[in-house]
Amino acid sequence: MTTTPTSPSPASPSLIATLPGRYYTDPEVFRQEQEKLFESLWCCAVRSADLGAPGAFRTVRVGRESVVVTRTRTGELRAFLNVCRHRGARLCTEEAGEVRRGLQCPYHAWTYDLDGRLIAAPNLIKMPDIDRTEYGLIKVALREWLGYAWVCLADEPPSFEDTVMHAAVERLGDAAAVERYGTERLDLGRRVTYDVRANWKLIVENFMECYHCATIHPELTEVLPEFADGYAAQYYVGHGAEFGPGVEGFTVDGGAGFARLPEVSADQDRRYYAITVKPAVFVNLVPDHVILHRVFPLAVDRTLVECDWLYAPEVVASGADVSRSVELFHRVNVQDFEACERTQPAMSSRAYRRGGVLVPSEHHIGVFHDWLLTALGGTRA
Ligand code: FES
Ligand SMILES: [Fe+2]
Repeated sequence: MTTTPTSPSPASPSLIATLPGRYYTDPEVFRQEQEKLFESLWCCAVRSADLGAPGAFRTVRVGRESVVVTRTRTGELRAFLNVCRHRGARLCTEEAGEVRRGLQCPYHAWTYDLDGRLIAAPNLIKMPDIDRTEYGLIKVALREWLGYAWVCLADEPPSFEDTVMHAAVERLGDAAAVERYGTERLDLGRRVTYDVRANWKLIVENFMECYHCATIHPELTEVLPEFADGYAAQYYVGHGAEFGPGVEGFTVDGGAGFARLPEVSADQDRRYYAITVKPAVFVNLVPDHVILHRVFPLAVDRTLVECDWLYAPEVVASGADVSRSVELFHRVNVQDFEACERTQPAMSSRAYRRGGVLVPSEHHIGVFHDWLLTALGGTRA
């Protein structure tokens, strides 16, 4: 099949074409995306602090693979394909756990240490020709950034700096701007997982634009009045949407939040910044917390979104009530994902066979589409 869309240019010069509907419904497109995006690029897998002590492990879906991330005895994180080298059983069947010595396969008990080395197997002693070093777990590239383990399944991963970190520089216009939030030092205040019945691209595209904000986000537009004009923070490089005049904090009712994170600069205060790291990670920065979304496509029409609200350690340790703070973006998430779920069924309608259109404030979504088509090896018609 070809990945070239057949959408003609829209008749009105201010409009550009979206992708055709089949990009959101065709299992073959989804397979190509898994292979060429999620299994080739850096994906944000797990929060580093979720693997607190040596021996902790987490399993996470990356593209079509299951990956196990471990905390080694010396405190580093490692990632492996979650497949036993003996006869291929899934090694870790739980989402998270802690082991004392190593990971033991539940099938024939081959055992691997936290660095992935094969350390024991029944009767191994009677098979002296077996070179244990040959049968360690298959390693996956791992980098830590913003307090998360990012993994890449590619044999030769792309530059982390030029792809993942570049997304933050490109959006904020300054490499230091995201670092000032000290995200890797923050603690988890709340995590909500959303099971969304929509294609992952609808979720990304929705996050990138604010044309819908006035219609579906009453609480958000109260806090960030400029969003009511339909221009997303992502529309301008380096621009953060400013809090409204009477707004004290990024909370559901605009009431006070928490103290500004220590290194956030004065010009970043009272502003909301959003970064999309392709293929599908969203970083939201406000003066007193960071909200990070990890997007896991499960099927062409189903996507899991894990959203973390991160606060200064003293806020979490004090048991402070974060609920009004969490509630604002939780509502935004629910409002957004409901919109995506309303859109998904129409993707297979004949009305959307040639796709829809992007208005000027959404034109940057066209850049995302071009990026996607290039990665899949096609071109825009
Ligand atoms: S498949 Fe894992 S020990 Fe046999
Ligand atoms: Fe939204």
